[in-house]
Amino acid sequence: MKRTIRDLKNIENKRVLLRCDFNVPLDNYGDIIDDTRIVSSLPTIKYLNDQKCKLIICSHLGRPKGYDKFLSLFPVAVSLMKYFPNKVKFSSKVTGKEVENMVANMKGGDILLLENLRFDSREEENDPTFVKELASLADIYVDDAFGVAHRKHASNYGVALKLPNAIGFLIEKELNVFYKAFENPKKPFVAILGGAKVKDKLTLINNVIGKADTVLVGGGMAYTFLLAEGIKIGKSIVDLDLVDDAREILKNAKVNGTKIVLPVDHVALLGEKVVKTSELEQDMVGLDIGKKTIQMFTEEILNAGQIIWNGPVGKYEDKRFRNGTMQIAKAVAKSSAYSIVGGGDSVGAINTLGYADKIDHLSTGGGASLKLMEGKVLPAVEVIDTL
Ligand code: 3PG
Repeated sequence: MKRTIRDLKNIENKRVLLRCDFNVPLDNYGDIIDDTRIVSSLPTIKYLNDQKCKLIICSHLGRPKGYDKFLSLFPVAVSLMKYFPNKVKFSSKVTGKEVENMVANMKGGDILLLENLRFDSREEENDPTFVKELASLADIYVDDAFGVAHRKHASNYGVALKLPNAIGFLIEKELNVFYKAFENPKKPFVAILGGAKVKDKLTLINNVIGKADTVLVGGGMAYTFLLAEGIKIGKSIVDLDLVDDAREILKNAKVNGTKIVLPVDHVALLGEKVVKTSELEQDMVGLDIGKKTIQMFTEEILNAGQIIWNGPVGKYEDKRFRNGTMQIAKAVAKSSAYSIVGGGDSVGAINTLGYADKIDHLSTGGGASLKLMEGKVLPAVEVIDTL
């Protein structure tokens, strides 16, 4: 068992470095569009603040190459000030003398948010000098940045090796949800897998076979499976190198008692025209699931005891091919099954429809939740001390 913040004793007046994932979407004016990741971090921040430690919070935002004024964490500091009035200060630097002075002047119960870690290129390189500079700011390290836990960066990996450490409530919750879902699933367990490329989801689908009762496959990845079944796919996206793997997966699924359901109709492009079809003719490009498939998938979803959904079932970024994903989101929200949704577009569809409160667990991590669904260990979690 990993050490959590509950296991940290006597931290009053101690300097605690907390890594959060405040990688929130911003609009053109720098305003936060969706503060889910800030709100999800509040239980940990509040708990540590109640312990009256000197709380130094750090995060990345976006993927800047050097300083970028549009990716400053200042808007996040403003948001935190709402939740912790008169307690939050912002440092426009990440490490160095200025930050050290600010930390030296902190009192127990103060909160200091550092500027975007990725303004310093050493963060992503897990550079030892940057690790040392960050670690020197604190006595204890806490990681609650689930969304970035699949990365091995200075602030979530290197620093953990240098200081007494623990995970926060958000990481603890995300880990528990995914472990439980795979170790002790409510039956029938239905996995909905989408996304463009089959190669990105091979490990996931292999991990789900034998555990899930039913796997609904949509999105671009479905066409490689359809081709493996000898079904015409027109000019749809396909990974020819992986057709044999897809065939093997279909065979394994049968042997292991997992039913794989593939699309039976499509919304496709024929030249410039959007067409609805059960058969993809030579020049057609399938880009979303059709009505019959939506119905079939919906029935499975409504009969499920547990649902895990990762990835859109159509080309979500194009409005013309978004309906399938939206209908799946509606079905998942309507279902009384225990539901877990991970991945940017699937979570996006749920949020756009305003169904967030109808889902049992909306993961705050895309890549990180995918790794957990693949049955992998997250490096930033692995590095935390065990009890
Ligand atoms: C995310 O948004 O998935 C996390 O914050 C990780 O961001 P990254 O993919 O830029 O590392």
